[in-house]
Amino acid sequence: MKVREWDPRTASSAEIASLLDTLNAVLAADLPQDPPWRESSLREYLSEVMPGERRISWVTQADPAPDGTPGAILGHVNVLLLGGIGVLEVLVHPTVRRSRLGRELVRVAARRVWDEGFQSIGVEVVGDTPAVAFYESLGFAREYVETRSVLDLGAVDWPALTEMAGGIGAGYHLEFCPGGLPDDLLEAYARAKAEVRDVDDGELRPSSYDPQRLRDSLDTLRRRGMKPYIVLARHEQTGEVAGLTEVVVPAQHPTRADQYDTIVVRDHRGYGIDRAIKARMLLELRSAELELAEVQTWNAQANEAMLKVNAELGYRPDRDWCEYGVDVAELVHRLDPHR
Ligand SMILES: CC(C)(COP(=O)(O)OP(=O)(O)OC[C@H]1O[C@@H](n2cnc3c(N)ncnc32)[C@H](O)[C@@H]1OP(=O)(O)O)[C@@H](O)C(=O)NCCC(=O)NCCS
Repeated sequence: MKVREWDPRTASSAEIASLLDTLNAVLAADLPQDPPWRESSLREYLSEVMPGERRISWVTQADPAPDGTPGAILGHVNVLLLGGIGVLEVLVHPTVRRSRLGRELVRVAARRVWDEGFQSIGVEVVGDTPAVAFYESLGFAREYVETRSVLDLGAVDWPALTEMAGGIGAGYHLEFCPGGLPDDLLEAYARAKAEVRDVDDGELRPSSYDPQRLRDSLDTLRRRGMKPYIVLARHEQTGEVAGLTEVVVPAQHPTRADQYDTIVVRDHRGYGIDRAIKARMLLELRSAELELAEVQTWNAQANEAMLKVNAELGYRPDRDWCEYGVDVAELVHRLDPHR
C-alpha cells in the first residue's frame, strides 16, 4: 500500500468519513472506554493550525473496488511543525496492523521533517496500547509521563460541588467566560499564564503567554470546532487574574470534554481558588452542555496538590499518557539507512 500526501482541506467527504471510521476502529481497539468521534468539524480539526505552524498529512488507502469505488483509508500520519520540533500522530487500522504500515508512515513523515530542517520529533503515546512497543522499536525515548483522569458527571456530588464553588477566600470573586475571553481580560489573563511558565509545574499542554498568542490560540480552537470555556478568579483589590481554569468541548466528541490549563498565581495560593474554579466550571458545564457526560484531565504525577483536588471532585485515574521523543537524524537513518 502506497503512502501519499493528503490535504484534509481539499479531501473528498468520503475520505474524511473513511478516516473517521479508521480513527473510531483504533479507539475501539486501544481505548474502548473513550467515546467515538463524530464527523462534525473533523475536516477543520485536521486542517486548522496556529499562525506560524504547519501540519502536513499523508494517508494510505486500500485498492479501489472493481466498480471504481475508492478504497478505505487504512493509515494516516500527520506532523505538526512548530518551534523546532515536529509533533507526530499515526493511525493504523487494527485490521492491517503488524504489516509494517505504521513504520512506513513514520518513515515518510520523518523524512519530510528532516528535509524541512527540524531536529526532533515528539509524539504522545497512550500507556498500555501497542503504540508503546511501536515507538520504542523505532528508537523513541520516553521523556515525560502524565496521568489521564476521567470524571463521570453522573457520579458527581452536585451539592458538595456547589459548596466548593462558594468556598473561596474573601476578596476574590469568580467569573464564567463561555466561548473565550472578553478583550479587556486578555492581558491580565496572559500575565497569570506567563507567571506559571517560570514555575514549570510540568504540565504537558502548551500555554499561551502573551495577549496576541492567547487570542490566536482561542481563535484556532474555535476554528477547529473546539469550544473553550473559562472560569477565572479575580482579585478584587487589584483586578488581577488570580486563578483560571480552561475546559474545551470538542464538536468531534461533545460527550467528553478536555480540561486544559488550571493555574493559581503564586501570591494567591492557599485561598481555595483551585477547588472553587474547577467546581464552578463543572456546575456551568452541566447547564451549558447538555450532552456532556465526562471530563478528562492530564496531570503530572508529581503535582500532588492538583491530584488531590481532582480526586475530591471525583476524577478517577485512567491511564498513563506519555511524551516520547527522538532525534530526527537518528530516526531517518534507522528507517532509511541508505540515505
Ligand atoms: C502504533 C501503530 C501505529 C503501529 O502500527 P503497525 O502498522 O501495526 O506497526 P508496524 O507493523 O509498522 O510495527 C513496527 C514494529 O513496532 C513494534 N510493534 C508494533 N505493534 C506492536 C505490538 N502490538 N506489540 C509489540 N510490538 C509492536 C514491533 O517491533 C513491530 O515490528 P515487527 O512487527 O517486525 O515485530 C498502531 O498500532 C496504531 O495505529 N495505534 C494507535 C495509535 C494512536 O495514536 N492511537 C491514538 C488513540 S489510542
